[in-house]
Amino acid sequence: MIRTVASWCEIDGRMNNLELHDFQPRLGSFRDEILKGLAQAQKAIAPKFFYDKRGSELFEQICELEEYYPTRTEIHLLKTYSQEIADLIGQHGLLIEYGSGSSSKVRILLDAFHQPSGYMPIDISFEHMLQASTELAENYPNLDVIAVCADYTQDFQLPEYNKKLVNKKLIFFPGSTIGNLDPTEALHLLKQSISLLKTGDGMLIGVDLKKNPTILNAAYNDSRGVTAAFNLNLLERINNELDANFALDSFRHWAFYNQDQSRIEMHLVSLKEQTVIIEQTPFYFSEGETIHTENSYKYSIEEFQKLAKRAGFDSTHVWIDPNNLFSIHYLQVR
Ligand code: TRP
Repeated sequence: MIRTVASWCEIDGRMNNLELHDFQPRLGSFRDEILKGLAQAQKAIAPKFFYDKRGSELFEQICELEEYYPTRTEIHLLKTYSQEIADLIGQHGLLIEYGSGSSSKVRILLDAFHQPSGYMPIDISFEHMLQASTELAENYPNLDVIAVCADYTQDFQLPEYNKKLVNKKLIFFPGSTIGNLDPTEALHLLKQSISLLKTGDGMLIGVDLKKNPTILNAAYNDSRGVTAAFNLNLLERINNELDANFALDSFRHWAFYNQDQSRIEMHLVSLKEQTVIIEQTPFYFSEGETIHTENSYKYSIEEFQKLAKRAGFDSTHVWIDPNNLFSIHYLQVR
């Protein structure tokens, strides 16, 4: 179901370039998925639930940490190659972004693009995206901003856009968020993306690379404890939004690189034997038992290109920093 909460002009009388579509991804699903995830033998919660208002703020702090190299490396790559990317899209492109958050990286592309027609940010966090897209629409008055609140890991349709001419479409998926899906889910997301595009359209996707585990472990265990606060905020969110009684000081953050699976795993560890009640359902934890909250898969260039080809893309360009930390792939629909 799609509910358009605000359309051209309605949000702010001065703006006629912002439209907002709300697929209401938050209703129902949070409660159901938490109860289901905690009932499994290995308790697990999907990482998309990190991003309430506080979680989104903490994540922005993670991106600025010394140890967290992906954000600054990706931004540097985008700045270096933005003209080349803009030329691949040509005039009157439509830029679609998954997990747009504060929409800061996309500005590098928008500034380089040749008269882009529209920008479609898609994010699960409603408040965050409303604020970010309003600011962006103000800053780019000649650009149509069609904001979509949706869960892009579920199947969904893009809202129709025909206000201006569109040549190529580009899906922008930065931050190595694709690594937060397991390879089967990642393949599904790439295929689903192709269904939103036409032959010749593109996908620009940031992918974190395999590397020395010391660098990886530090990136997810920062010395200031911001990542730990981000992980624990999930329990606070459950307490705030559901009738739950997690004691935050009875859990701790744990992240490590699992070499066999090529992924960082993030967990919350129960520091003692305890029972947590959520909406009258008891959840028993033994001492040391964990809730698995995130994976972050790391790829080699070749592994990722293979995945993209299987989905139906041609992998035409890849940009990598001199230290081989991070890659940006340009994929074209076959
Ligand atoms: N896509 C990011 C990554 O996997 C998300 C992320 C970075 C993250 N740091 C985190 C998620 C810390 C949770 C906690 O690298």
